[in-house]
Amino acid sequence: MAKVLTIHGGVPLKGKVTVRGAKNLVPKAMVAALLGDSPSVLRNVPEIKDVAVVTSLLKIHGVTVSKDEVTGDLTMDPSGTKTATSNEIDTHAGDSRIPILFCGPLLHSLGEALIPNLGGCKIGDRPIDFHLDVLRHFGAEIDKAGPLGTSIRAPHGLTGAKISLPYPSVGATEQVLLTAVRAKGTTEVENAAIEPEILDLISLLQKMGAIITVGRDRVIRIIGVEKLNGYNHKALPDRNESASWASAALVTKGDIFVEGAAQRDLTAFLHTYRQIGGEFEVTDDGIRFFHPGGDLKPLILETDVHPGFMTDWQQPLVVALTQATGVSIIHETVYENRFGFTNALVEMGAKVQLHSECLGAIPCRFGQRNFQHSAVITGPTPLTGADVDIPDLRGGFSHLIAALAAEGTSHVTGIELINRGYEKFMDKLTDLGARVEMNEIA
Ligand code: EPU
Repeated sequence: MAKVLTIHGGVPLKGKVTVRGAKNLVPKAMVAALLGDSPSVLRNVPEIKDVAVVTSLLKIHGVTVSKDEVTGDLTMDPSGTKTATSNEIDTHAGDSRIPILFCGPLLHSLGEALIPNLGGCKIGDRPIDFHLDVLRHFGAEIDKAGPLGTSIRAPHGLTGAKISLPYPSVGATEQVLLTAVRAKGTTEVENAAIEPEILDLISLLQKMGAIITVGRDRVIRIIGVEKLNGYNHKALPDRNESASWASAALVTKGDIFVEGAAQRDLTAFLHTYRQIGGEFEVTDDGIRFFHPGGDLKPLILETDVHPGFMTDWQQPLVVALTQATGVSIIHETVYENRFGFTNALVEMGAKVQLHSECLGAIPCRFGQRNFQHSAVITGPTPLTGADVDIPDLRGGFSHLIAALAAEGTSHVTGIELINRGYEKFMDKLTDLGARVEMNEIA
């Protein structure tokens, strides 16, 4: 039975939603619990798919994971960590990209790691070459990449290394951190990612006893220690979910208070939001986002690594730009294939043209390589309801808010993908006044 979400559009979304811990931190914090020699407690944990996947992966590796039914806090006890069977591992093939981050902690505890074939959103090739190079620098041996995944061993232990990343990759930087904290000696990583979620992971590792400094110019130094203890940590709020609801308020001409949204992690987004004509009010408890009336303004924008405009904010914002008066240009510099979602917007009435040229000033790895990674959006164009199949998490959210703003009715399939990053999504939509209903079809 497939689920179909029917959306009757044209209703401004109004009310309050609460965002909890960041999808791009929480699963990694759960992996870090493997590094401790005592239980860790993680707070502000959202009910999303990656949390369920990592819970299951931890359990098959002998970690006891218990959830406080009232608060949702997770307690993870790694004292029984053991090798999982390849069959157990294989049940997680294609589920998520997080399993690649189990390598360092498992190599430290067990001397070996078997990683299933990875999943995650289809927004480009998403290779793992940086991760495997990082692990080789520490002395790991990558035995095979066969049908059951990747098998990695460290028969002589892991030793700190000097690493220079080809790109400030979030995942590869996390790979370095989760491996270096218990490796012998010092590690220095140049060209590291410094996203807020990375800094939160560093805070949590510091609580465990790790020695880490973040230097100038994206250089992180880690002095390995033999033992780490468990942590007690409250995950930072999800800035991507916050930005998504902000765009939903703008697109539907609504007014949404995002409880838990943190201004300090959203500076580049808030700047852009105001530039195109959205308004916001920051309070201690969250941020109110609203359409103040009048025309939205077009803009020229490039996605970038932190502190730039994040690639995950781009897709919902594109929907808002279809309603701006004039021509907007977006140059996507993080992923080569993150505009596929615009096809459905065009079907709904938007005018979006894709180009393989770099329409921007940031040097990007995708120019002259046939990747349609620049978009020209002409607005305003009325949107009408359509039948849409969700392609990935953020693209899917954009389709949903386009359908919520559109005249008429839309039918959306593939809605399960939204659970990867948006907790209690249907409840939130209903609370905001959306006219939606979920049905099942054979
Ligand atoms: N890359 C490689 N080789 C690698 C790793 C990355 O070429 O081994 C490339 C990627 O293909 C991409 C670029 O480097 O072009 C950046 O990728 P990065 O490693 O930074 O991304 P990630 O760690 O796989 C995380 C988030 C993404 C977010 C990016 C960028 C998680 C679970 N995912 O992915 O979030 O877009 O960082 O900030 O943390 C989302 O939330 O929807 C999402 C896709």
